[in-house]
Amino acid sequence: MNILFCVFSGTGNTRRVAETLAARLAEFGHTSDLHMIKSGVPMPAVGGYDLLIAGYPVHAFNAPTAALKFLKQLPPSAGMPVYLLRTSGEPSKLNDASGIEPRRILKKKGYEVKGEFTYVMPYNIIFRHSDGMVARMWQAALARIARDARTVDKLEGELRKVGPIRRSAAFVLRIEHPAMPLIGKTFRVSKKQCVGCGACADLCPSGNIRMENGHPKFGMHCVGCMGCAFSCPQDAVRISVLNLWRVNGKYAFTGEASTDEETCRYLHGMYNRYFHESEDKI
Ligand SMILES: Cc1cc2nc3c(=O)[nH]c(=O)nc-3n(C[C@H](O)[C@H](O)[C@H](O)COP(=O)(O)O)c2cc1C
Ligand code: SF4
Ligand code: SF4
Repeated sequence: MNILFCVFSGTGNTRRVAETLAARLAEFGHTSDLHMIKSGVPMPAVGGYDLLIAGYPVHAFNAPTAALKFLKQLPPSAGMPVYLLRTSGEPSKLNDASGIEPRRILKKKGYEVKGEFTYVMPYNIIFRHSDGMVARMWQAALARIARDARTVDKLEGELRKVGPIRRSAAFVLRIEHPAMPLIGKTFRVSKKQCVGCGACADLCPSGNIRMENGHPKFGMHCVGCMGCAFSCPQDAVRISVLNLWRVNGKYAFTGEASTDEETCRYLHGMYNRYFHESEDKI
């Protein structure tokens, strides 16, 4: 198969998973192209592919607006198979609700969603996961990617069932979509720390940052991806009311994996269950 990956990724986690899945699928003889969803980048020629894999990070138990906007712009299809690939910072089943809207949009356009894959990756907001946790998350993701590549190769898969409580919780938290442009407008940079390198403006996937006299200025199109705050080499970006949740600096993904006992206290049991399930699937 010739596969098109269309991926939205603010801080690289979803891209990392998608690229690794593409490499696994190449071992089965499948070719693939990667299209990163970014404002101003034209829609790829989707019709020339046999399969679409749409990737996004979970934002407030939903898919980010940028990913939904992209899906809405897809051309109609007569049954092209699609998989949803998502990354999330925690292994909560609430994150499954983020597939509802993408599935609805794709179905309406005639695509056939064959399956959904979720990978727990380090948080890019709220708190920084320890290096050991991140190494274990990546081991778990690699095991899942190996299994999921076999599923895609056979065009199998399953859709997540989302009950009314999770559906309602995700619906309420969709307030993030209209709120983020307003919050993003009030992002600021520390003049003492910022060196005016422009990296934040270059990477912003919604084109929301422009450099003015060597300093970043934020517009009204923020989708809350955290790319600017996470990747700033000076940790100069202040994310307004979310600032206590700011996470800065790339994760290594290598090194010694943490043990069950060393798993973070937050959702301790849930993370360990996710790790055990993943390890069983190697
Ligand atoms: C605004 C925002 C909201 C988030 N909400 C959730 C969430 O509801 N559940 C979750 O598990 N992780 C959540 N996360 C964490 C990301 O889904 C996770 O770190 C993801 O792997 C980031 O992917 P990326 O590097 O491709 O952007 C959120 C992150 C951001 C920035
Ligand atoms: S990436 Fe950081 S240092 Fe560079 S311009 Fe943006 S805020 Fe300033
Ligand atoms: S301003 Fe920052 S958080 Fe908002 S979309 Fe751009 S890179 Fe992402």
